[in-house]
Amino acid sequence: MPNIPARLRKRPRHLVARIACVLLLTTYGAPAGAQALSATPPMGWNPWNAFRTEVDEAKIVANAQLLVRSGLAEAGYRFVNIDDGWWLRREADGRIRIRTGIFPSAALPDGTTSFRPFVDRLHGMGLKAGIYTDIGRNNCAQHWDRDSPNLPAGEQREREVGTLGYQDADARLFFGEWGFDYAKVDACGIADYGPDSVGVRDGTYRSLSPLIARKAPARSEPAIVEALYARYARAIRTAAPGTLLEICAWGEAEVGNWAGRYAQLWRTSSDIRSNWGSMLANFDSAARRTLFAGPGRWNHPDMLEVGNGDFDVTHPVEARAHLSLWAIIAAPLILSLDLTRASPELIAILGNREVIAIDQDPAGHQGVILSHTAEADILVKPLARLGHKAVALVNRSTRPITLGVDLADLRLSPRGTTIVRDLWSKDVAALRGTRIERRLAPHETALLRIEGQAADPDTVFPDEMPAAIAVIDAGQAMPDRGRNWIPARLGFRPAGEPILRNGRPDTGTLGVASGSRVRITLAKRFRRVEIAPAGSSGTPYTIVADGRVVLRAKADGRSAIRLNTAGVDKLELQAPAGSTADAGFLWSDLRMIRR
Ligand code: GAL
Repeated sequence: MPNIPARLRKRPRHLVARIACVLLLTTYGAPAGAQALSATPPMGWNPWNAFRTEVDEAKIVANAQLLVRSGLAEAGYRFVNIDDGWWLRREADGRIRIRTGIFPSAALPDGTTSFRPFVDRLHGMGLKAGIYTDIGRNNCAQHWDRDSPNLPAGEQREREVGTLGYQDADARLFFGEWGFDYAKVDACGIADYGPDSVGVRDGTYRSLSPLIARKAPARSEPAIVEALYARYARAIRTAAPGTLLEICAWGEAEVGNWAGRYAQLWRTSSDIRSNWGSMLANFDSAARRTLFAGPGRWNHPDMLEVGNGDFDVTHPVEARAHLSLWAIIAAPLILSLDLTRASPELIAILGNREVIAIDQDPAGHQGVILSHTAEADILVKPLARLGHKAVALVNRSTRPITLGVDLADLRLSPRGTTIVRDLWSKDVAALRGTRIERRLAPHETALLRIEGQAADPDTVFPDEMPAAIAVIDAGQAMPDRGRNWIPARLGFRPAGEPILRNGRPDTGTLGVASGSRVRITLAKRFRRVEIAPAGSSGTPYTIVADGRVVLRAKADGRSAIRLNTAGVDKLELQAPAGSTADAGFLWSDLRMIRR
């Protein structure tokens, strides 16, 4: 029997819950092949932030053509994704009918509808195509955009365009028959149609007892939500194995802890808006989750607002900062502006190849937070080339400030030449001394590429290989602590307190939840691993190498241990169980030694 979280065994509240329990029993665990997709974060364009539901084929095609003509497609922005607003209704035979009033090419001579001509057109332009659906029966606009002219029409059942109950048929239609390459799967259908919602009360929609209570995690049903997404992921993989899956559950239902088993990207927060505070909040929601990202699994702080509101062409500092922040954490880069109105300056910002190269670096590491305050952040992202690192110096505030890092913070050697490239000013210089510092204007981010030498090429610290570390069990659930409770972090405890060394978060230490399991892929490249387990719990921790227990002991808070890891592929760190009030457990001073 697979390892089913205790909370799943809660009494199912209704039919959906019962079905979901059965689904989870059959699908828990990673689907084979899911990790091979999307080796770097997806890049593309989505109409939502620019048009909401007032979208149409002409607008999408015009933007797609501009992606190609402006060179942005060539720079990597290849997915063109449809968002909400495209459905007309679900027909009696279960097939979805497209709203041909806004997607005229979908009207076929025989009276049926198909997105195949539209998808073929995008493919013919060298682009990829994405579609949007909902994991429940109804969609988001039906609740949140009730005045939209583009809501599904017909009887109550016909307006149930979400995929619940139609997973296999919809997946065959969207990805098999129509040929879409990407699925954004929203969650309003399982969040907003409780018996008290307006649309249910007036009889417009059927009631579905919410599985996600927004911003009230303790009232959500994460295991059931997971089961539903696992079910749809399986349908997609069967219909078209190469399809990317985006789970759009806004950071709710502990989605970040389980989504990587099924999806290539998942939202970590509610919708971004085109203002500075919202952008930072969404950034923070993903930036804290470094250990959940890596090739094939990306934290998604939402689409870019560059070109809109506080990030429009009159705010180039903010526009550059926004893109820099997404790049340093290897976030998906999904544009969401109307390119037909974008100036050449904006296109140049979005098309900055060196910035894109940071986001798309093949090692797939998400940047690590070296320090974080309300005013400023410093992040470092190890790049594929040994000794190369990207650094973001982030002024969150409205005052000018000076920020800097020492070569030692980057684990780079003070000997030899260090080249510092400023990816926005294009300034390139050899570093004099050992400190890199920048005076930053209000809201400015300096994004630097540092090309130096590793201080010790034989010793690798966890902050130098975060993509090789994965949280495979989140441990004790803390739903009452909300979505800021992160089961494993570098330099911070799960609840967010920094683990300090010399006054800064110690990114060589993992702060984890009690009972959690963290897997480090050593790939047989390290002869030895050193670690100092530390925690107050009375139960022992366990270390497992390639499935074999190599150590079971109680942490005494002092001694470092050395593990012989020659030939070991995967090392698993299992934290002891603790009380629900504790601050978790520390895997301190972790280092991987090659020789
Ligand atoms: C939200 C989603 C947005 C957009 C919108 C469409 O739930 O987060 O990105 O897709 O629905 O109604």
